[in-house]
Amino acid sequence: MNPKDAFQRQIRDLRISVTDRCNFRCIYCMPKEFFGREYEFLKRVELLTFEEIARLTRIFNTLGAKKVRITGGEPLIRRDIEDLISLLSTIPDLDLTLTTNGSLLAQKASALKDAGLKRVTVSLDALDDETFKAMNDVNFPVESVLKGIEAASEVGLNPVKINMVVKRGINENSILPMVRHFRNSGHILRFIEYMDVGTTNGWRLDQIVSINEILGIIDNEFPIEPLEPNYQGEVAKRWVYKDGAGEIGVIASVTSPFCGNCTRIRLSAEGRLYTCLFGTEGTDLRGLIRGGKTNDDISDFIFDVWQKRNDRYSEIRSSKTAELKRVEMSYIGG
Ligand code: GTP
Ligand code: 5AD
Ligand code: SF4
Ligand code: SF4
Repeated sequence: MNPKDAFQRQIRDLRISVTDRCNFRCIYCMPKEFFGREYEFLKRVELLTFEEIARLTRIFNTLGAKKVRITGGEPLIRRDIEDLISLLSTIPDLDLTLTTNGSLLAQKASALKDAGLKRVTVSLDALDDETFKAMNDVNFPVESVLKGIEAASEVGLNPVKINMVVKRGINENSILPMVRHFRNSGHILRFIEYMDVGTTNGWRLDQIVSINEILGIIDNEFPIEPLEPNYQGEVAKRWVYKDGAGEIGVIASVTSPFCGNCTRIRLSAEGRLYTCLFGTEGTDLRGLIRGGKTNDDISDFIFDVWQKRNDRYSEIRSSKTAELKRVEMSYIGG
């Protein structure tokens, strides 16, 4: 068998960060103490251009990536982001999606849809302003995000998925209000265990609320039952309300790691390749594209990096791994 055929079965999912900046300061991702005025974000010349991103995406696509997620930081603050979507939408049979905090979604939804985006995932951690503002730490109101979600749905970026990271003592009381709000909406609410990504969020194991606990809270008020995965290796486990009010998802990255099935590869805004969300250094691709390498050279290079990959951070998480220097989620994308 051609070794690249084996590779094709292993990679599915390419996640592209288009900026390391964000207009939020979520306490579990970009705490203000570390990402203040003096923090050095990437400069414009350091960022891959849209043409460079599109070229690399085509190479990843020939290597098997059929799903592409645009992330950040906050991807909608990258200027003219819809132009990148237009370039990527010409790649056939691509599940092209984007994760956003929703702050600019109401004004961008239509342009994104027209450019060829298929669907969106919106981060939202609470429904009351007090809790939500405590989590985003920039005083941004819930209502604007809800408007963004509805705008996205109206233009057809469906199904809209809503990601809620649950942090003990901060927003666990928002679980049921979120459930009540999004039942029967057609949107898929997903609960995510708070993870130790990066080194700035001060993560402690006792701050997570386990997916089992979350499912218990929901099932107690609205009985639910599990659904089969859409495909092998799907990160979110699917559940439905028994009364027919729709689907929810849970992502137990801490209590039930899924490294064994991991098919994700990540490209940072400056063109570094990461084979794990908990990677440290990454591997530079920008130098290859700007250094005149051919697509075949770059494809071989990526193939080699992936072949040597042995990442399974979430399965070996311990006090030792906690001390490793890890890339920030705001840099590499959610
Ligand atoms: P969909 O096809 O839209 O369902 O994509 P998805 O299931 O990949 O969902 P999404 O990209 O929104 O990821 C949801 C969350 O899962 C992220 O925000 C992270 O918190 C977590 N997550 C995503 N990828 C990884 C990963 O590779 N490793 C770990 N440990 N957690 C991840
Ligand atoms: N734990 C879990 N998920 C996180 N995200 C960011 N930081 C964390 C963390 N510490 C995810 C959120 C958001 C996406 C952009 O990144 O799900 O939706
Ligand atoms: Fe920004 Fe998303 Fe990180 Fe929040 S989780 S600070 S919205 S990149
Ligand atoms: Fe994949 Fe690394 Fe996440 Fe494990 S910890 S699922 S190897 S990205």
